[in-house]
Amino acid sequence: MNKLVINGGKKLSGEIKLQGAKNSILPILSATVLTNGETVLENCPDLSDVYASCRILTHIGLKVCRENPDIIVISGTGAKTSEIPDSLMSCMRSSVNFLGSLIGRCGECSISFPGGCQLGPRPLDIHLSALRSMGVSISEEHGYIKCTVPHGIHGAKITLPFPSVGATENIILAAVLADGETEIINAAREPEINDLILYLKKCGARIQSSGGGNIFVEGVSSLSGTDFRIMPDRIAAATYMAAAAATGGAVQLNCTEGIDTDLFTVYFEQMGCRVYNSGKSVFIKSGKSIKPVKSLKTMPYPGFPTDMQAVFMSVLCCASGTSVFEENIFEDRYRHVDALNRMGADIKVYGKIAVVEGVERLYGAEVSATDLRGGAAMVIAALSADGKTTVSEAGHIDRGYEKIEQILSSVGADIIRKS
Ligand code: UD1
Repeated sequence: MNKLVINGGKKLSGEIKLQGAKNSILPILSATVLTNGETVLENCPDLSDVYASCRILTHIGLKVCRENPDIIVISGTGAKTSEIPDSLMSCMRSSVNFLGSLIGRCGECSISFPGGCQLGPRPLDIHLSALRSMGVSISEEHGYIKCTVPHGIHGAKITLPFPSVGATENIILAAVLADGETEIINAAREPEINDLILYLKKCGARIQSSGGGNIFVEGVSSLSGTDFRIMPDRIAAATYMAAAAATGGAVQLNCTEGIDTDLFTVYFEQMGCRVYNSGKSVFIKSGKSIKPVKSLKTMPYPGFPTDMQAVFMSVLCCASGTSVFEENIFEDRYRHVDALNRMGADIKVYGKIAVVEGVERLYGAEVSATDLRGGAAMVIAALSADGKTTVSEAGHIDRGYEKIEQILSSVGADIIRKS
């Protein structure tokens, strides 16, 4: 039993140090398999998914040391095994990145299908077809993906049918030590992919990214370790800003250097909040009331992120009118709606559309986190609600938010964890 108990109705106020990005550190941890020597990662978030990745690295044969909560040191000279059992793979979705790094390093791997949030079908066809075009032979047996490279892995020209984040990362990881050149057309453009590229380039990889969806990789014979600072987490930033907005509060996020907030602050401004981004920090002050947002459509970057849909929805539950969401990335990413309705929200789902009729107030209830971002949305709704809410299955939330109860308490929330 791991639950968060929240007494709502407290305006959040104060400063928060923003955590490092989950979606950056996880692929970078899997990339360390490709390197020789020592990698020192700074600004590492304290997340259960990070520990799960470190357990996989240790299983593979690398030495992993967490020197203080912020710094992880990984050292090794390759992989002692290229097999990852289901018990390690099923903890999170990002374990799929070990597919690209193990193939790139060992020329073979056997991994079970990855776990992660249940958001509808999450196939791997784009990953596998790209790897096949690079000379990888793949079979799927008893829930395991088995890969071999009979004639060496080689570069290829790959056009993605959809700019998949995971597939783009896997192709880059498989290509950096491959023979020849790889070109990815219609690659995902998320900033965290750029962080992976920056890390690999510091290790000696040759990668060019147009920033417009074309990535060019020239294979090299080896990579060294390096020091690297993980970028700040823009999804966590939006979550804490949403918490401030929903409670009528004012919060400053520090350590936000380099994150592009324009993509989502525009919606906070439509809600009537004021946002200032100094480059080093982001400040949000809620308006007197929350105004509705007419249309919020999730799209691949640089569109509105699917990872922010749930937390924005919880703010708009109490808007002075109707807001409409369109979820275009995942088929089943409205699983938090039942919990929000249980707390008094008025949300109707029609396939990929969700219509949120603003209500005067939410009230506390017993709810259960359905997934990482859906769980965060329930916490935000609870912070603004009248009375006590219990969010059970809080382990989902710990996959992406570092010590969420301590951070929210530090800005005035009444929230405790019961384990
Ligand atoms: C996705 C999000 C990412 C988010 C993460 C966790 C996008 C584009 N990606 O990344 O921002 O951080 O979830 O919530 O917003 N697909 C296939 N075949 C494949 C791969 C993907 O059909 O081989 C489909 C998926 O089913 C899904 C869509 O493409 O509908 C997005 O997939 P992808 O970007 O690969 O997912 P993640 O890497 O998990």
